[in-house]
Amino acid sequence: MKILLTGASGMLASDVVPKLKSLKHKVIATDLKPRLKDIMKLDVREIKDVEALVVKNKPEYIFHLAAETNVDLCEQEPDHAYKTNTIGTENIALVCQKYDIPLLYISTAGVFWGDKKEPYNEFDIPRPANVYGHSKLQGEVIVQRLLSKYFIVRAGWMVGGWEIDKKFVYKMVTQIKEGKKELRVVSDKFGSSTFTCDFAENLMNVINTNRYGLYHMTNKGTGSRYDIALKVVEFMGLNGKVKVTPIDSSQFPLPAPRANSEMMQNYKLDLLGINNMPHWHDSLKKYIEKNKNKK
Ligand SMILES: NC(=O)c1ccc[n+]([C@@H]2O[C@H](COP(=O)([O-])OP(=O)(O)OC[C@H]3O[C@@H](n4cnc5c(N)ncnc54)[C@H](OP(=O)(O)O)[C@@H]3O)[C@@H](O)[C@H]2O)c1
Repeated sequence: MKILLTGASGMLASDVVPKLKSLKHKVIATDLKPRLKDIMKLDVREIKDVEALVVKNKPEYIFHLAAETNVDLCEQEPDHAYKTNTIGTENIALVCQKYDIPLLYISTAGVFWGDKKEPYNEFDIPRPANVYGHSKLQGEVIVQRLLSKYFIVRAGWMVGGWEIDKKFVYKMVTQIKEGKKELRVVSDKFGSSTFTCDFAENLMNVINTNRYGLYHMTNKGTGSRYDIALKVVEFMGLNGKVKVTPIDSSQFPLPAPRANSEMMQNYKLDLLGINNMPHWHDSLKKYIEKNKNKK
């Protein structure tokens, strides 16, 4: 299959693109800022550029991963967030509609308010707690309104790509590498980790069902940021050498409010018998053991 993929310089694409290539798919990889030489420049905010690339390359599927994923920046610059995450997604969906191309849109656990005690499933009503979540949810609404052939797959707290990981796990690793002997970590925010390698490994199993619709795809198990930091230290082999201190999120104010819970359950994959996502403990162990000796 010929797949046009946006956001190819990002964390998730760093595992999705090689996986697709290993399955013999032809990938036209694009990003606003190409990180590798086989990535072409494409700004999803420019519908003419999106359409021109589609007309030239005639993809059979579009995988739309590009987004502004900096949650605090989205809060500070909402126009930028909506332009990238909502209008950008509308541009992609309009082109898919015009040329009858199925779309995969990656969304987020950040669409939920966070007051549910159990993990959120696909049948829970979204209500975002910040601009990022709202801009991504509006992307979902547009995809559902414009298209019938679509997959929306929501991921949780993303982990992957090691040195290109801009998120929590690599922030912890960086602090450890800098020689910090104490990590002060928020213990009152809970979520589901999503390892990019596991997401990439399982994605085509979902797409190949042709059961279009909305899915959650995160690793099994949930935990707080504090729980994750404890495991990072353990798997780095530094138990007893690096202390992890739990703190309340009120001690760590950020521009964007965070939901108390971004825990998700892959309920539809469970019901269909295709939830093969591993537990986050196992994936974190493998991820750290594979990468921890990198410079
Ligand atoms: N990261 C998470 O924790 C998380 C969690 C759940 C779901 N998701 C979703 O998963 C998808 C992949 O995210 P990721 O984790 O791989 O994040 P990422 O590393 O930030 O990748 C997103 C890529 O999109 C690029 N991009 C931004 N604006 C663009 C534009 N106008 N046109 C084209 N490309 C643009 C980014 O470039 P710059 O880096 O230069 O901005 C980046 O290379 C996104 O849809 C995201 O919303 C992410």
